[in-house]
Order: sequence, then structure tokens, then C-alpha cells
Amino acid sequence: MMRFGLIGLGGIGLVRKSALEQSEACELTAAFDLNQTLLDDLPPHVARFNDADSLLKSDSCDAVIISTPTHFHEDLAIAALENGKHVIVEKPMASSLQASINMADTARRCNKVLTVGFNHRYFAAIKDIKQAIDSGVIGTLRYVKGFAGHTGLSEFKSKWMYDKDIMGGGTLMDNGIHTLDLVCYLMNDPIKTVSGMISTETWQLDRSEDNAFVQMRSESGIMGSLHSSWTEWKGYHFYVEAYGDLGMARAYYAPMHSTIITLDKPGGHATKKRNFYIGSIFREKFKGWQSTVIQTFIEELDDFIRLTENGPAGAIATSDDGVRSIAIPNAVYQSDADTTIVNLNNLWQAPQKQGN
Ligand SMILES: NC(=O)c1ccc[n+]([C@@H]2O[C@H](COP(=O)([O-])OP(=O)(O)OC[C@H]3O[C@@H](n4cnc5c(N)ncnc54)[C@H](O)[C@@H]3O)[C@@H](O)[C@H]2O)c1
Repeated sequence: MMRFGLIGLGGIGLVRKSALEQSEACELTAAFDLNQTLLDDLPPHVARFNDADSLLKSDSCDAVIISTPTHFHEDLAIAALENGKHVIVEKPMASSLQASINMADTARRCNKVLTVGFNHRYFAAIKDIKQAIDSGVIGTLRYVKGFAGHTGLSEFKSKWMYDKDIMGGGTLMDNGIHTLDLVCYLMNDPIKTVSGMISTETWQLDRSEDNAFVQMRSESGIMGSLHSSWTEWKGYHFYVEAYGDLGMARAYYAPMHSTIITLDKPGGHATKKRNFYIGSIFREKFKGWQSTVIQTFIEELDDFIRLTENGPAGAIATSDDGVRSIAIPNAVYQSDADTTIVNLNNLWQAPQKQGN
């Protein structure tokens, strides 16, 4: 059993807690939150701490999950890694590109695993379309496009959630970052160039965009795009679509479903397969959306443990994936300000070997 410490027991921290409790491979053994009353309901075997430093210096856990507001991620992750803990940090990895690079560098220096909570990779529909792409049934991958939207300010319970200095941006760093990661994950090729546009017109927030359009091209020429929105009046949903020269694969949430179309030749006879994830739809109806997230967190924990044992990364987002997901929004902000196409290498050079 891997022993986990949890730092931050707010909205997503409590979902993390449930995943640790339900996982057969992990146990929650330590916890800290600035709001100490949140520690009151923990079972007696969980060590409660008055500050993060004492938790990280203690032998109460082997790994920590950091689910605090984003501007604390850098200092907490670096302290955890330097104290010999493996780390899962919530998205967005950090409030700035430099902070995320510092975190990834520290993980390499300390030889510890650092991963980023891109749990949408574990959605059943995403796994199905990833498999369709990797198996080659849709032919050679040409482009991946995504959309992520919700209604913006009405979704947030705290101001820091739309504060650029804390979150590093607006919709692109909030809901968009999950789908941005999915687009890059499915493209599965280093991103070479990025351009984009942002708008702050609807919510009029200081530098936090309410809409962003992203365009990318990878080293081998695959194209990627994303529209991220805080003005999606239809409510929370996202989708990703991958197009090859012999078909396409689409994953949508919520409710979860996927479509895979394969052709015998470009423009030829099409075979369509639609998947409805009835189990997940019913589970969410009775146990809420959190039940899907818990499921994905448990699978993510299994991959995390494998990575700490030098096994394959599986679907987990490595620290370099996390840095990429911060570098691209920053490239979009630069592209919008300068009306240029940004060479991503000028902002961040991905290490040759994709490791932790
Ligand atoms: N994976 C996902 O889909 C997902 C969903 C929601 C939020 N998040 C991310 O998780 C993080 C937390 O978001 P949330 O919605 O749970 O916020 P929240 O405000 O509900 O919870 C944050 C918790 O952290 C505590 N806290 C604040 N500063 C702290 C510190 N320095 N040390 C210890 N505890 C501290 C607060 O008391 C609070 O209980 C953010 O980075 C957010 O972007 C990820």
C-alpha cells in the first residue's frame, strides 16, 4: 500500500480523499489544510498536521497530493520532492511557466515522481478514442480539435479561481487546460508552433480570458485546435475529435459518449460505431459527477504507483506534460498580444526523454 498525504481538503481534495479511501493500492495516512476544521472528520488513523512543512518532513506518507489553490503548488511540490515524497499535483500545475519548470526540474534532481492531475485521460470515452487512434483504424492522424466550456463566473465559489495571478490565466488555465492536455495527448507528437486569440469582453476580468482559441502544429505536421470558454450558456461540457485520413473518433462529456467512424478509403464507405456509457451515466445520476472523477482518480493512482516503481507511465500526465500544458496557454497569450505564431521551443524546451 502506498501511503498518501493530502494537502488541501477543499472541493477537489475531498474527492481525492474518497479515491484514496476506495483504492486498493493506496491509503490516506496524513493530511493538512489551512482550514483545520476540515481535518475534524478524518478517520483516527490519519495523522493531522498544523502546517505543510511538518507533514512533508514527517515519515507519515510516501507521496502527497497537492490540491490547494494553484499559486501554492510550486512551493509545496518542491518542498515535498526535496523531502523525498512523490507528488501528484492538481491542475493547473502552477501559476506560471517558470514555476512549472522549476517543479519538473526538482523532480528530476530529487529522482522522485511528479505527475499532474489530468484525470480526463481516464474517462472511458477518451480511452476508447485513444485506442482507436493508436490502433490505426482511423488511418494516419491529421488533426485533433477540442472544445471545453462552462458558464464562467457562476461556476466559481472563490475569487482566486478567476484571478490571473493565482490561476495563471482564465478559461484556458481552468477548464480548457484539461481539454488542451487531451488534444496534445491524442496528437502524441511534440508541439512545434502555437497561435491563438483571447477575449475578456464578456466577464471583463483583469487579464483572465473568458474565451480562447488555440491553434497548434506538431513536429510531424499534425494540427490541433481548441476553443475554451467561460460563456458556454449550455452548461459544462467538453469534447475532443481526432481525424485521420480513414476515419474519425469523438469523445463527448456529459453525458459520456463516443463515436468512431472508419472508412475503407478516404471518402469511401463509412462504418459508424457509437458507444453510450450507460453504467457511468446511471452511476452519475445516483452518485453525482464525483463518482466518475473518483473512478478516474483510482486509475490514475494505479499508474502513479507503477511510475514510482519505474514501470510504464500508462495514461498518467507526467510533469513534462504538465509543463507543456502551461507553456501553450502562455504561447497563446503571447500570440494574441503580438499577433504572431509562437515557436514553443522559444518558451520551453521539452526534455528529449519524456520521463517524470
Ligand atoms: N482535476 C480537476 O478536475 C480539478 C477540479 C477542481 C479543482 N482543481 C484544482 O484543484 C486545486 C484546488 O481547487 P478546489 O476547487 O479544491 O479549491 P477549494 O477552494 O475548494 O479548496 C482548496 C483547499 O485548500 C486549502 N488551502 C488553501 N491554501 C492552502 C495552503 N497553503 N496549504 C494547505 N491548504 C490550503 C483551503 O482551505 C481549501 O480547503 C486548484 O489548483 C484547482 O485548479 C482540479
